[in-house]
Amino acid sequence: MHPEQRPNEEQTKLWNGIAGRAWVDTQPLLDRVLKPFEDLLVNAVAAKSARRVLDVGCGAGTTTLAIAELLGTNGRCIGIDISEPMIALARTRAERAASTAPPAHFICADAQIYAFEPAAFDMVVSRFGVMFFDDPVRAFANLRHTAKDGAELRFLAWRSPAENPFMTTAERAAAPLLANIPARDPDAPGQFAFADRRRLNRILEESGWNEIDIRPLDVSCNFPEKDLVRYFTQLGPLGRVLQEVDEQTRTRVVAEVRAAFATYVQGDEVRFNAAGWMVGAR
Ligand SMILES: C[S@@+](CC[C@H](N)C(=O)[O-])C[C@H]1O[C@@H](n2cnc3c(N)ncnc32)[C@H](O)[C@@H]1O
Repeated sequence: MHPEQRPNEEQTKLWNGIAGRAWVDTQPLLDRVLKPFEDLLVNAVAAKSARRVLDVGCGAGTTTLAIAELLGTNGRCIGIDISEPMIALARTRAERAASTAPPAHFICADAQIYAFEPAAFDMVVSRFGVMFFDDPVRAFANLRHTAKDGAELRFLAWRSPAENPFMTTAERAAAPLLANIPARDPDAPGQFAFADRRRLNRILEESGWNEIDIRPLDVSCNFPEKDLVRYFTQLGPLGRVLQEVDEQTRTRVVAEVRAAFATYVQGDEVRFNAAGWMVGAR
């Protein structure tokens, strides 16, 4: 990082701009796709009988709201996210849910540097929200500082692009037609930043977490076929590049990419296997 740059400047821009807008627009679709992971995280909180839970990179607040509902009036779940549009949606959803469920609370800030109250949480969780730090050791040390003694860290991250071919189908199929799709850098902040288990282990060790447990997790996901074009034209690196192309190119790319997804379509559903890590530490 350049010394004059603010931490996470690039990711802050992305999640407050094009990626944040795409995640807000497709929130119900993404929640459908990621529902099995939501359930895994909520079950982990239930098993721990946690009272105060922090949800890092909470996005539009789906897991925060589900955990707040689980905890009921005995507990409290707070979500933190760097994206203003996603936190705005999370707060709207929390207000809507407030008449029937205990409130979830949201902070719009960078979890890497936010001045959390020390020893405030007995569980720190995340559904794919912790791979975007430019200084992950500093970020996880900051999370440790707000965890009580013996608190549990529990999060989900993606394994490698090779193990998640569905997630890179769009950019692979579009590459011959579009020269400017950014390549995935396994060491840079981003979706696959924790694909390398040894790197992830080292980051957690260096930030002071113990009893590190990184387990592969293969989950079958699905969503309606009618949402497939929306999925690949709005999300990921292709979604970003497509905003800037002319209509004719866009039509050609959409046809090419849609054809590449054919193997994942079964009737009126898209089905794929997602390869993740379930990460635990204390
Ligand atoms: C892949 S999305 C996951 C969102 C949410 N956990 C979910 O499952 O729907 C990653 C989230 O991490 C957030 N994020 C990225 N860098 C962050 C940071 N430094 N501090 C807090 N949140 C961050 C993004 O804004 C985004 O909402």
